[in-house]
Amino acid sequence: MNDRFLKACRREPVDCTPVWFMRQAGRYMQEYQAIRAKHSILEVCKTPELAAQVTLQPIDRFPLDAAIIFADILLPLEAMGLRLEFAEGEGPIIHNPLRDRASVDQLRPVDGDELAYVEEAIRQARRALTGKVPLIGFAGAPFTLASYAIEGGGSRNYIRTKQLMYREPEVWHRLMDKLARVVTGYLRRQIRAGAEAVQLFDSWVGCLSPGDYAEYVLPHVQLIFDGLKREQVPLIHFGTGTGSLLRLMRQAGGDVIGLDWRVHLDDAWQTVGHDVAVQGNLDPVALFASVHEIERRVEDILRRAAGRPGHIFNLGHGILPNTPIDGVAVTAEMVHKLSQR
Ligand code: CP3
Repeated sequence: MNDRFLKACRREPVDCTPVWFMRQAGRYMQEYQAIRAKHSILEVCKTPELAAQVTLQPIDRFPLDAAIIFADILLPLEAMGLRLEFAEGEGPIIHNPLRDRASVDQLRPVDGDELAYVEEAIRQARRALTGKVPLIGFAGAPFTLASYAIEGGGSRNYIRTKQLMYREPEVWHRLMDKLARVVTGYLRRQIRAGAEAVQLFDSWVGCLSPGDYAEYVLPHVQLIFDGLKREQVPLIHFGTGTGSLLRLMRQAGGDVIGLDWRVHLDDAWQTVGHDVAVQGNLDPVALFASVHEIERRVEDILRRAAGRPGHIFNLGHGILPNTPIDGVAVTAEMVHKLSQR
């Protein structure tokens, strides 16, 4: 078994730096498009055979050191009673967004088999991987989930989200607590189904000030990490635009802190402390550049990591649609070659 990724999560020495990419399964791959031509994204997520198959597509093609289960962070919202749709070319839509206390109180707790299809996909993906690389499970963090649930989709300024937070803090905390409990149970089930590490995606939390993060988000994220400590698998805590939040995110929890490309990896590692691992942080748009330019940027990140145990190479956010497939292949190979110990 290639266990470089798990070793790096635990800050143990490795032969070379492990690499995987957020959103490594997706539309930039023809194999993925072929499946999506016949099935909606929700169908793929809810059919364990398909989800497992898509999970393995990037592993079969690139020298990656971890697989991530194919699912979506919004699936638990659907299980809680929100009507979720992935509209072609528009991104996710929630048709009955949360706007008041009554709709928050109506959310179902999700403490049973509502998301059993993800657990089954994990079991099937583990079987298909035959120990080649570890499998990562994941969930959205409460703030990022709340933002979709309240806005009804993606957002630019998060006005309705912050409006609830600022005007009705008690309802806000009820919602965040409900989400945190669902996410904890969901991740625990993923781990018990075979996920060998889990990542919490707080993709949009960077829109908050440090003061608001500390007051309205941190305690709920802490509940999740505290609730998973006993599970004995590495916990990854990721967000974007988090340069000013890193210290607080570290305090909230995680064995690995995910960094986006807006920070220097060495500065950020110092900020969170060398007693946690870090993951990142190439600009996803760098994969559209020439091989020479990619190499310059990969070298820079590796130089900042300085061979210190506990660096997992990744992008600073997910692979974008239309990313050149060669850029992905070249980058994965390059990370291994340039980081040989
Ligand atoms: O990384 C992987 O390969 C695993 C699969 C994965 C998906 N979504 C599948 C997906 C993961 C890890 C996610 C997480 C996710 N989903 C996040 C957090 C990560 C991030 O990028 O910040 C967020 C914010 C979502 C919500 C979401 N799902 C959006 C905004 C979209 C539309 C975006 C787009 O590019 O159209 C989705 C749909 C989605 N989920 C796609 C994939 C591969 C693309 C849709 C398609 O196949 O047509």
